[in-house]
Amino acid sequence: MSDPVVILSERLLEAMRAALGDALPPDADPLLAPSRNPEFGDFQANAAMGLAKRLGEKPRDLAQRIVDNLRIHDIAEEPTIAGPGFINIRLKPSALSAALGAMSDASLGVESIGGARTAVVDVCGVNLAKQMHVGHLRASVIGDALARIYERLGWKVFRQNHFGDWGLPIAMVTDAVKRGAERGEINLDNITLNDLERMYRRAQAECAADTRGLEAVRKYGLGPKAEAELEAQVQGAQEQMERSKAALIALQRGDPEFVSVWEKLCEVTLGACFDICRRLHTRITDASTAGESTYRDELAGVVEDLLARGVAEVSEGAVVVRLDEFGIKEPCLIRKRDGGFLYATTDMAAVRRRVQQLGGDRLIYAVDARQSLHFKQVFAAATKAGYARTKSGDNAELLHAAFGTVLGEDNRPFKTRSGDNVKLSDLLDEAVSRAEAAVAEKNPDLSADERRTVAEAVGISAIKYADLSSDRIKDYVFSFDRMLAFEGNTGPYLLYALVRVKSILRKAQDELGICVSEAVGFSVNEAQEKALALELLKYAGMVRSAGDACEPHRLCGYLYSLATAFSSFFENCPVLRAPDEATRDGRLRLAALTGRVLEDGLTTLGLVPLERM
Ligand code: ARG
Repeated sequence: MSDPVVILSERLLEAMRAALGDALPPDADPLLAPSRNPEFGDFQANAAMGLAKRLGEKPRDLAQRIVDNLRIHDIAEEPTIAGPGFINIRLKPSALSAALGAMSDASLGVESIGGARTAVVDVCGVNLAKQMHVGHLRASVIGDALARIYERLGWKVFRQNHFGDWGLPIAMVTDAVKRGAERGEINLDNITLNDLERMYRRAQAECAADTRGLEAVRKYGLGPKAEAELEAQVQGAQEQMERSKAALIALQRGDPEFVSVWEKLCEVTLGACFDICRRLHTRITDASTAGESTYRDELAGVVEDLLARGVAEVSEGAVVVRLDEFGIKEPCLIRKRDGGFLYATTDMAAVRRRVQQLGGDRLIYAVDARQSLHFKQVFAAATKAGYARTKSGDNAELLHAAFGTVLGEDNRPFKTRSGDNVKLSDLLDEAVSRAEAAVAEKNPDLSADERRTVAEAVGISAIKYADLSSDRIKDYVFSFDRMLAFEGNTGPYLLYALVRVKSILRKAQDELGICVSEAVGFSVNEAQEKALALELLKYAGMVRSAGDACEPHRLCGYLYSLATAFSSFFENCPVLRAPDEATRDGRLRLAALTGRVLEDGLTTLGLVPLERM
């Protein structure tokens, strides 16, 4: 038996069908819920009342007919009818124990599809010469969690870090760094990401021409001095722009002097990115990085291919794919009038590679919700172009796992006081140092070394879990106090719950010499034992649903309920001081299985469990 709630619902629906035949409305639902009064059973099905009303029958009679057709004696006691027509169901402890036993193998009940399907997950998406910020935190943490969930379900998974390493702005900063190095202002051998970011900003400012300002100065006749100043600035910007374009052409041609500087910039940016990814325990490496530059030689071909096949058309000198048949008004622009390619052109080529070379059956993009229109357009255009067609001839599923914005305590996008993006590395440092203080307070006996290890795990888990546990599509407020709390739906709470389970098992073994034995049944008589058992049995279904919906927060919410159910079990049902040996061993098995599910769930989300804290 898997989740008994699922089985009971199915059986009830069968009974309703048998009792009512064609009269059963197609949307009928057994309305199975936990019992309001445990004296009557574990569950109650409330469908009879509403159905009877719709069909003009007496509710109790209808309930009786459903019960007459209900076949659940393998897992439940004889159902009873109460009040106006509630159907009360009590599960047999032997059935619950058997179900828990069945999920106790290595799989924990999660069925693997054995690599029969391939998922490609777009993660991270860091940009050249820029620090990672909280947006990239979400793209990395959510993307990696989705990849892990799919791996857990037995999919073959590729992570793709769509590194923003190509295009005019990149050429601009490459050119600026190259000139800086030539003038001896920069030493390329020890340049840091901070230096790059500064140069990027400066180059950008130099390229930004204040043409509007110049027009205004002329219009209002603000004097020759102001005019001359702005003229010089605009001219300077135009020169910078021309130089950037020339640099892009040089890069495209593979000019070795430009390419070697550009490679250095990639190395510095990715080095810092991988340091953070490692610290976050996200599996994002060089092997999973496919920068925009890796598509550069395909872009012209994509546009030509689409023009030749009539998928794209020329519109006012630009090339677009019209998407009216997909209900999308805005056409997808794939080549500008000046011949330049766009973000969307690269993503079209990426869909093609991910489906046709990597074999993706499902492409998942963990990217900011503000890019929703972009992905709608790219998905539709790629489908129209046939780039999403798999070997079997079906279209791959293209999913934008969009996430909301991280907000500051003032409810505005999370920024530093000066309005800059908050550096992710600073954020991680702060979380860990705050965690260290909390850990020292909670457990003063830890050695300094151990305290640092625990603090690192607690701080990182707190940040990751806060990000994963909030509804993916919603914005959330970044709060160190909330995420680092040891109570509530937080990373530290869950790590601690697991540590607690482990310490009970250790104590049983070290002090009493008892190990968990597969030979005894699970103890599932008390209400809290049953509640815990029912939570445990939901695990496989939860992993599947988190995968189907691409929503890691479902798994977070589940683990939190599981930890809560364990907590009230532990308070009410003494394990090591149980009334008899059979109960003690049966409770120990419950504890052990809880520990395994918690550990598996946390690992599947990308959190790193601790032995002690
Ligand atoms: N580099 C982009 C950004 O920072 C994110 C890339 C998302 N992935 C993609 N395939 N477009 O906004």
